[in-house]
Amino acid sequence: MPLDRLDPTLVSQVDALREEGRAKAPERIIEGCIPAEGALGPRYKMRGSDQAFLRMNSNSYLSLSHHPDLLKAADDAAHAFGAGPGAVRFIDGTFAPHVELECCISGFTGRPAARVFNSAYTSILGLALALTGKDTYWVGDELNHNCIIRAMRVANVPRERRSIFRHNDVAHLRECLDAVPEGIGRVVVIFDGIFSMRGDHAPLQEIADLCAGYHERFRDGVITVMDDSHGIGAYGDTGRGTEEHCGARADVLVGTFGKAFGVNGGFVAASEAVIEAVRQMADTYIYTNPLGAPDAAAAVAAVRLADSDTGRGQLANLRARTLQFRAGLEARGLESIDGPHPVVPLLVRDTDRTRGLVSNLFEQGVLAVGLTFPVVPRGDETIRFQINAAHTEADIEQLLGSLDRCLS
Ligand SMILES: Cc1ncc(COP(=O)(O)O)c(C=O)c1O
Repeated sequence: MPLDRLDPTLVSQVDALREEGRAKAPERIIEGCIPAEGALGPRYKMRGSDQAFLRMNSNSYLSLSHHPDLLKAADDAAHAFGAGPGAVRFIDGTFAPHVELECCISGFTGRPAARVFNSAYTSILGLALALTGKDTYWVGDELNHNCIIRAMRVANVPRERRSIFRHNDVAHLRECLDAVPEGIGRVVVIFDGIFSMRGDHAPLQEIADLCAGYHERFRDGVITVMDDSHGIGAYGDTGRGTEEHCGARADVLVGTFGKAFGVNGGFVAASEAVIEAVRQMADTYIYTNPLGAPDAAAAVAAVRLADSDTGRGQLANLRARTLQFRAGLEARGLESIDGPHPVVPLLVRDTDRTRGLVSNLFEQGVLAVGLTFPVVPRGDETIRFQINAAHTEADIEQLLGSLDRCLS
């Protein structure tokens, strides 16, 4: 029994996580979706429960994943190309929908070129591998998503060639840039666009202006990379994300098709040269299967829809429902973090209370996520509510009513 010695060690490691309160709870299983009816938006059936749940923990901001255009595109592509790609991109695993998607997202983001990965996570890992040379220095926001932190490790960036600035603190970023040691030829400043635990966004204009001032100091300049996975599709007047909201641009943009667009997959959008370097050097592009053609085709349909009157209509409802919920929290004197993004945190600031409230909400038929240490810093324990375009006025009223009962 070759695992007989390893298994007990792993069991005690997981037990230790449980004792520290850091272990993940068992996963709930969604067994069915009930379409919107009358004044109510969609509901979900969960294994082991007879209730119909209101889902406030989905990243599917534009509520497109059941849209007939996406389903038809996926279905047609599955019939034309099969369910899976059969090989990596370089070994004839590139299908017409991949190329169409790259064209579509480079147009949507206003970049000369783009490459599609099987997730935003693998996009960032691949990009870091492609951009890291022996004299590259990385500077990141302290609240960056795990994929960026992991990317630094995967790309073997040593401690002396990276630094971290306090969340959204441009003055501290300036200090970090001032402290870049001699001999560095390329500096990459990397940050989330929307910070998914808080719903706030990077001060993109200020970051871009600051970095421009340091550009001449380094052989390859200072490059800004923004992962706008929660912004793209969901934020800004036409869903172009944090760039549109701020009226500024990052040099390299990373995003996902798995949130606002309701499908799956990630992308890097930038200059032709950066994208070709990514294609040649990003292991997570080269050595792993791409998205299946059905996902890629559905993502094309989603980006097109997002950029149409339908998408603008979804965005308008998303905004209206977000405002309604935020106003409800404010009227009840509950603490949140300001901003128009559909991630709306309710700051509870206590681990046990956060867990208790999330489980009370579940009993009332509401799915929400509690964020506790180490996902958020201690003291910032939060319930994260995510508004989706399919939520109705009555859904938000129901949610606020449930919160009232939980808090009374
Ligand atoms: C900033 C950021 N980047 C990347 C991801 C991962 O996206 P994907 O599921 O496409 O890998 C997330 C998702 O939570 C995220 O918040």
